[in-house]
Amino acid sequence: MNRYSRVAGTGSYLPEKVLTNKDLEKTIDTTDEWIRTRTGIERRHIAGPEESSSSLAEHAARRALKSAGATPSDVDFIVVGTTTPDLIFPNTGTLLQERLDIHGCPAFSLETACSGFIYALSIADKYVRLGESQCALVVGVECLSRFVDWTDRATAVLFGDGAGAVVLTPADEPGILGTHLHSDGKYQDLLYFPYGVSKGFETLRANSKDGLKMQGNEVFKVAVRTLSKLVDETLAKNGVERSDIDWLVPHQANLRIIQSAADKLGLPMEKVVVTVQDHGNTSAASIPLALDTAVRDGRIHRGQLLLLETFGGGFTWGSALIRY
Ligand code: ACO
Repeated sequence: MNRYSRVAGTGSYLPEKVLTNKDLEKTIDTTDEWIRTRTGIERRHIAGPEESSSSLAEHAARRALKSAGATPSDVDFIVVGTTTPDLIFPNTGTLLQERLDIHGCPAFSLETACSGFIYALSIADKYVRLGESQCALVVGVECLSRFVDWTDRATAVLFGDGAGAVVLTPADEPGILGTHLHSDGKYQDLLYFPYGVSKGFETLRANSKDGLKMQGNEVFKVAVRTLSKLVDETLAKNGVERSDIDWLVPHQANLRIIQSAADKLGLPMEKVVVTVQDHGNTSAASIPLALDTAVRDGRIHRGQLLLLETFGGGFTWGSALIRY
């Protein structure tokens, strides 16, 4: 008998502190109107000084486990997508594992920017399908506020902090029908953070105020083009028609990019989960945040067909087709 994975539960978490567009008007040369019309964003959440990616992830993970009717002791595999790990090492998956007080199962994080959750989901799906995991915890989490340059209006208005998680368990029927991952480093100069460990570490250690760099216009164009191809690929490889999709759950970067993806699919916006207004671009956290929001408010029902798609720094991009 074929073995598949299914999404048994979802959870998410946003830090308490809210930064509205009006708040940003006081510190940088921008307006609420500009931000809303160009991006759809109204507010973003900012992690407190005692919080970190692993603490945000813990909240989301506990909520996902509860909704799956599972406990931390059931978890036998943890994968976390994040661009903003607590530390360079130990990895954020392992720090989350310790927070959940579980010990010994594989736990790791991966860094594929906004595509982190879809990459993590794709890996966990394989482990569950192969019978190597009975209860996999998949998390997307970011504390992007830590490295945004808050004086740069071109980027400061876009990003926020948050976490989302799903629990995957085995099933006789899909579940996750397919995941599709891509990457192309030729676009690395369009969206990046300028310092790391083996490159620029001295500058990083010298407390540089430099933040994330982005050529917004170019990112926008490639994102729209690439997501359109990705949707076609996902539908063709899974033998699914556009009209079969019940919900598009896209990466929440910019309302205009989301609208264009919906247009290409011929989907009315009523069938698109949009939460970007409430938390801005939370990178790897954005898809599981949107998914959990729509499950909890009753929009997404069991049995519906969901298309998740993402695009981010690298560039990396990917999709997942899920019978929820
Ligand atoms: N407030 C007011 N004015 C601003 C702001 C701001 N916050 N930021 C830029 N401007 C100004 C610019 O200086 C420019 O002024 P000028 O015409 O006098 O030179 C004008 O607004 C237009 O700037 P553009 O960059 O051309 O504006 P655009 O319509 O492209 O919108 C944006 C910018 C929102 C960044 C858009 O390009 C975008 O969304 N790009 C996609 C990038 C993205 O989503 N990145 C997130 C990470 S990648 C990912 O997750 C997909």
